[in-house]
Amino acid sequence: TDLSLIRNFSIIAHIDHGKSTLADRLIQFTGGLTDREMQEQVLDNMDIERERGITIKAQTVRLDYTAKDGKTYQLNLMDTPGHVDFAYEVSRSLAACEGALLVVDAAQGVEAQTLANVYQSIEHDHEIVPVINKIDLPAAEPEQVRAEIEDIIGLDASEAVLTSAKSGIGIEEVLEAVVAKIPPPQGERDSPLKASLVDSWYDPYLGVVILVRVLSGVLKKGQQIKFMQGGTEHLVDRVGCMRPKIEQLPELGPGEIGFITAQIKEVEQARVGDTITTVKGGAEKALPGYREPQAVVFCGLFPVDAADFEKLRESIGKLRLNDASFTYEMESSAALGFGFRAGFLGLLHLEIIQERLTREYDLDLITTAPSVVYRIHLTKSKNDDARTIELHNPADYPDPTRIDTIEEPWIKATIYTPDEYLGAILKLCQDRRGVQTNLTYVGGRAQVTYELPLNEVVFDFYDRLKSISRGYASFDYEQIGLRDGDLVKMNILVNNEPVDALSMIVHRGVAEARGRHMCERLKDLIPRHLFKIPIQAAIGGKVVARETISAMRKDVTAKCYGGDITRKKKLLEKQKKGKAKMREYGNVSIPQEAFIAALRMG
Ligand code: GTP
Repeated sequence: TDLSLIRNFSIIAHIDHGKSTLADRLIQFTGGLTDREMQEQVLDNMDIERERGITIKAQTVRLDYTAKDGKTYQLNLMDTPGHVDFAYEVSRSLAACEGALLVVDAAQGVEAQTLANVYQSIEHDHEIVPVINKIDLPAAEPEQVRAEIEDIIGLDASEAVLTSAKSGIGIEEVLEAVVAKIPPPQGERDSPLKASLVDSWYDPYLGVVILVRVLSGVLKKGQQIKFMQGGTEHLVDRVGCMRPKIEQLPELGPGEIGFITAQIKEVEQARVGDTITTVKGGAEKALPGYREPQAVVFCGLFPVDAADFEKLRESIGKLRLNDASFTYEMESSAALGFGFRAGFLGLLHLEIIQERLTREYDLDLITTAPSVVYRIHLTKSKNDDARTIELHNPADYPDPTRIDTIEEPWIKATIYTPDEYLGAILKLCQDRRGVQTNLTYVGGRAQVTYELPLNEVVFDFYDRLKSISRGYASFDYEQIGLRDGDLVKMNILVNNEPVDALSMIVHRGVAEARGRHMCERLKDLIPRHLFKIPIQAAIGGKVVARETISAMRKDVTAKCYGGDITRKKKLLEKQKKGKAKMREYGNVSIPQEAFIAALRMG
């Protein structure tokens, strides 16, 4: 294809501003979809994505558009994941394009995530075409949004396209703007093959499907190719594009986006960001920017019913076929039995995997409180050198006397909110050890940036933010590295015995409050016994919070006295059955539900 007739672009938007709806309209307008097919959103293709309205995996569609200048263009529309946890995947998708449509909701205006995505797009030297969507809404204020795009983002929005993706207004104008404003790709056909691996996923019929952007050379069926970072070699057996239905093509030339399959069994072998070249006469240098996926949030996943362990193992294995970015290993807990310790790219990623296990695989799960990765510097001991370890699980906390320093991950958070909620938000950030770095106002809204320890954010920060702002504040973050922290391990003791599943790493400054909170909760959750039960939060040998469950006054069977004997027997049997689901801690039987409730509340 003539390079001047190709346009590669993505759509960037804040969640719910209408990215998927607009994409579907563009596909429909150019003839890729019938009306009936339009009813289903196409680009978001997993159930969970559709229900939650989140795009998880980038997908791409090729559209043929005959513009008003009479020429037919090949438009490659790349859908990018809509959440910060997938920032690296987003960056690889953006790198494969020359431009982007910036979709802003005409009633909501610019939001935190819009900003983060736009800045990334600008970093990739994209030509950005602003689109103001949902102009059909009574609350739409397109002129105000136009001004916001100029003031806050600094983009010229005088030619922003006004659309209603829902009612199909402005769609042709968007396509014309893509052709006119977004530059065509460049690349040499006669150079060695260089293609960037934009995304990969597992398809039950095709095996691993790889989305690529060819930078130079030609990618063809039958070629022996090499992944320059992964180091493996494969035979290309299919080359094609999605319209959005799969269409096989003889080749992908420079500037083109499409897919290949190469008899690959596991997505792990096809890593996002890798460079694909030919085995013979291939490129010498890989493309810059490759990064290994790195888990930042960890939690334990346990089956509620111990008998489901094998099912959990199988299900996690299947999920992993399609998502090489989460990790897992077996873990056992005295409180929760056998399960897995799993690592995720972020909190949303954790939630998605957890939800898919529950829903698609029909598993009842207990998820332990999420924890971040700490770097602990250990001093020399009698039989061990000074060294540095990475801690993923509070249960593996080392001997405190050997700890020299602990480093914890920090993030830079950008929060965007109507200013009436600002006070409460500042307090929340302050309580979570945040350091304010910037605060600006634009037309009744505030944009505030904070540096925060990630471990304070994984602890229900997002839910709190949403509730104090009635859902109006938007939040985005990026990691900014490790910093020393005064961190300690806090144990929760029931009748003087530590409960492993409830221990946590906390900052010394908030330990007492957090400990008290947990003790109060457990006091309500653990049933009374015949004796008094102390519940304590302790750091080393020092108790920082304490509650007591008072003793039960009467025997449970007492009220049956005089009653018939079968009733009494039944009651005892019922108690025994209940016991099966109990765990014993220092003679205290704790029902499984108490753990679940304590952990679910974060
Ligand atoms: P994520 O996939 O979560 O990033 O969301 P998205 O940006 O893809 O938004 P989506 O297209 O799913 O639209 C979100 C909601 O807005 C849906 O309920 C759409 O029906 C609605 N919507 C999209 N475009 C318009 C529009 O032009 N007008 C109105 N009134 N609603 C729209």
